[in-house]
Amino acid sequence: MSKPFYLTTPIYYVNDRPHIGHTYTTVLADAVARFRRQMGEQVRFLTGTDEHGQKVEKAAAAKGIAPKALADEVVANYTDLFARMGMTHDRFIRTTDADHRETVQARFKQLLETGDIYKSEYEGLYSVSDEAFVTETQAKELQAQGLAHQLVTLKEETYFFRLSKYEKPLLEYYAAHPDFVQPDFRFNEVKRFVEGGLTDLSISRTTINWGIPVPGDEKHVVYVWFDALLNYLTGAEGAWPADLQIVGKDILRFHTIYWPAFLMAMGLPLPKTVLAHGWWLSGNDKMSKSKGNVVRPDTLLKFGNDAIRFFFLRDMQVGYDRDFSFEGFMDRLNADLANGLGNLASRSISMIQRYRNGAVPTATTLDASDAAVDQAGRAVVADFIAKAQGHDFHAALDGLWIYLRSLDAYIVQAEPWKLAKDPANDPKLDAVLCNLYRALRATAPCLASVMPELAQLLWENLGLAGKAADQRLGELAWDAPAASPVAAEPKPLFARIDKDKEMTELESAATPAPEAAPSLDVPAIREVVDADTFFKVDLRVGKILEAERVPKSDKLIKMKVDIGLEQRTIVGGIGKAYEPADLLQKLVVVVANLAPRKLMGIESHGMLLAASDNASKPYLVAPPADAQPGFLVK
Ligand code: MSP
Repeated sequence: MSKPFYLTTPIYYVNDRPHIGHTYTTVLADAVARFRRQMGEQVRFLTGTDEHGQKVEKAAAAKGIAPKALADEVVANYTDLFARMGMTHDRFIRTTDADHRETVQARFKQLLETGDIYKSEYEGLYSVSDEAFVTETQAKELQAQGLAHQLVTLKEETYFFRLSKYEKPLLEYYAAHPDFVQPDFRFNEVKRFVEGGLTDLSISRTTINWGIPVPGDEKHVVYVWFDALLNYLTGAEGAWPADLQIVGKDILRFHTIYWPAFLMAMGLPLPKTVLAHGWWLSGNDKMSKSKGNVVRPDTLLKFGNDAIRFFFLRDMQVGYDRDFSFEGFMDRLNADLANGLGNLASRSISMIQRYRNGAVPTATTLDASDAAVDQAGRAVVADFIAKAQGHDFHAALDGLWIYLRSLDAYIVQAEPWKLAKDPANDPKLDAVLCNLYRALRATAPCLASVMPELAQLLWENLGLAGKAADQRLGELAWDAPAASPVAAEPKPLFARIDKDKEMTELESAATPAPEAAPSLDVPAIREVVDADTFFKVDLRVGKILEAERVPKSDKLIKMKVDIGLEQRTIVGGIGKAYEPADLLQKLVVVVANLAPRKLMGIESHGMLLAASDNASKPYLVAPPADAQPGFLVK
């Protein structure tokens, strides 16, 4: 049996919840996987998570949990999402999986033995956020972006991969394999980079614990990229080399320079194609939590899985960046799915119902306009296949929609409602209805990899049995007679989105939008004061020596408080929460330089600090038992 078509996505870091950018890569890969299966190919499709490294280690430490526990928690963000979205990967790999650890250690050992990995010392600037040593130029870029705080100088004993040795072999390989990197302009970037010269690559760390230990030298862990890239081997299960590796443009170098060099060193074949897509932007800017412009798939899922898939694949031209806007999203769906295809299908099916009682007629004669639709229909399917085979769903869908729109014009021009009035027009009406049916019957299987549910609905509305996704795309019989009548009650393909309503909801939902809302009933943080202002307040440790209720008040308690330098009379509004007897000998914090004020005729010389949630009682702030009256609190 021949090897399956093996395709991979990058594996995602577990330090964040997925946003639409992450979702996009796996949607694209899923569409390719479905398409290939529909073409009759065996497919192996791998996605997963990249769980080692400093960022996870730090985030876990901040939470006081083990890194693996954090990874287990966060990985569900991806596994749940992909399950909800019906992704058809064959394995979800985690770099913490036992078989992956084995792969990494075995390959590390192999390259150590061949001399492609050697131990030495490295000193340089290291970017904590990129988890990589940076060149001087890169360091300057980071400094210019105000990101210099992410740079630290590291000197460590490290294992190097002999990347320099592969400079020439890589360039030769690129020259001999023009399809290795797509699109072309990205390939050129890669070539230029390699032509600029390659230096050996540090591939172990002693400063990090959370990683796969270097076999036989466990104070080192394997550098996270060597670990991560090898997931494609672990997950291959006999399917290596990959036919298609989809990555974002930001990780292109890792996949087209380091990765093939590692593979050459291991004596393994290289992937056939690495496809680099651009980014989804938001507000024409990179999505980032700090900018508050991150778009999460959860926000879009209510419009349906197919809606997201269609939008991603139709709107993004692979290779280029694309700005995301909710308005654009809704406009696209309304125009193409509710109006365009949805409307065309419901009109066509209801005309077949009305004029032919549901039975699909076969065209006997075609006039020029019928023949044009017939020919274009046959061509559009072939064109869709060719473009999807080149992973260009954007162009494939574009071509299909141009055709679907031409059918609207065809209906307007043919005016079937007029033709139906005179039996003499039957051959023409048959040709029109037959053409519309054939066009929709070919559209459903084409769309099965893009919108599996909608395609199936369309298929059933046409009265067809089985699955749209099971129709072999290369073998669609355009002019086969209809096996059965169209559905008597077709279901709407896509409900029109009420854009104004959605925008209003979105805006009101977006207003507070804190990632983690405080759950307490406490006032917001007060206005900023500078340190000098704060330090003007004299806070002292005090000890309550005497306490009694103020007559006729259930709230006020009069106290004598020792503040080290003197004893003060202080009146506090804590009578509902504390009994005077319970206050004796208690250590408290006193605001010692507050202007005196009279409460129910008694002059109070200070105030006690208390914590409060606005709703229940005050909680006196208590210094530790060994603090002494008179200590300054600062
Ligand atoms: N863990 C590495 C990949 C290791 S592969 C051996 C990594 N992870 S990531 O979670 O940061 O990114 C995963 C993928 O998401 C990358 O391909 C990246 O390009 C993609 N995207 C991240 N933000 C994106 C957008 N805004 N738009 C489109 N894709 C983007 O890198």
